[in-house]
Amino acid sequence: MNKIRAAITGVQGYVPDYVLTNKELETMVDTTDEWITSRTGIKERHILKGEDKGSSVMAIEAVKDLLEKTKTRPEEIDLLICATVTPDMVFPATANIVCDAIGAKNAFSYDLMAACSGFLYAVNTGSKFIETGSCKKVVIVGSDKMSSIVDYTDRSTCIIFGDGAGAVMLEPTTEEVGVMDSILRCDGAGAQHLHMKAGGSRRPASLETVAAREHFVYQEGSAVFKFAVTNMADVSAEIMERNQLNADDVSWLVPHQANKRIIDATANRMGVGSEKVMLNIHRYGNTTSGTLPLCLWDYESQLKKGDNLILAAFGGGFTWGSVWIKWAYDPKQ
Ligand code: UT7
Repeated sequence: MNKIRAAITGVQGYVPDYVLTNKELETMVDTTDEWITSRTGIKERHILKGEDKGSSVMAIEAVKDLLEKTKTRPEEIDLLICATVTPDMVFPATANIVCDAIGAKNAFSYDLMAACSGFLYAVNTGSKFIETGSCKKVVIVGSDKMSSIVDYTDRSTCIIFGDGAGAVMLEPTTEEVGVMDSILRCDGAGAQHLHMKAGGSRRPASLETVAAREHFVYQEGSAVFKFAVTNMADVSAEIMERNQLNADDVSWLVPHQANKRIIDATANRMGVGSEKVMLNIHRYGNTTSGTLPLCLWDYESQLKKGDNLILAAFGGGFTWGSVWIKWAYDPKQ
């Protein structure tokens, strides 16, 4: 019998309406459009505005539209995994809130936190439930409201992040398509360079932690940059080597959108030309768990059945990894 694989059978994204441009950032911190564009490739990012709106708001929109697109009834979903570092609350899981809102009454659901690699970790995890036969329909949604944890007085960090969500449906297939291979890694020693100091059990919220601005992303940009360039490129080359894929075999590189220079370095290392690199960092910035599904959503109409996609990410933790996916369907009319 042919091996059961997990195929992506639909993808959907959601970004909130408000657009924060580099020009507007110039009025908030000491920066310029020229600096941001040349150092990161970002021109604008979307921001979720309004009281009482968390990451679930964007995840719900993405998943609702995904169900409509894939003609799936919410009761058919077996599992929903939400990759996020900005859950609505510490608990319950944002995934539980999403399931309730969309009426996924038969699903179990949980959040997965692996920062910018969250979507890759979740696709890998979700695909195992499909491969073992225990689930038939798994929704993976990456959603982050980064604006809720970004310090808009820290010019080197605030300029890169934006809000957004993206979701994919995983279903079983016995064809030679779907999630083919994954390499996932972590190194907790990287926490010193990228973390949020307070709000967890080690340093609960207090007047002192708020005054010290400890509830925001702390990032040593250039240190993170060096690790990201090396590890994202290495792991992408490694997954190609171990599957005997050369640059011609790769139809698309789907890279985490943190910095255009990291993306270029990864593509160079793989020998993949820029025409095969999915890029939307200029429009959305770094949406953390949202970047990879938002890329798939933007490029969906250009994807063909059998295309080899290498997804790659690096982020807080540190976490990083690459996943080889053979695309499972031709562009939908
Ligand atoms: O997705 C999760 C993982 N995160 C990443 O992958 C992010 C990786 N890091 C980066 O993308 C880059 O490090 C940043 C975009 C965050 C920063 O760029 P950089 O080229 O590494 O800048 P830097 O922090 O080394 O700073 C260089 C200079 C400094 O000035 P001096 O000391 O040389 O005079 C900064 O003060 O650029 C200055 N600078 C800015 N200038 C204008 C930093 N931020 C800004 C800014 N506008 N927004």
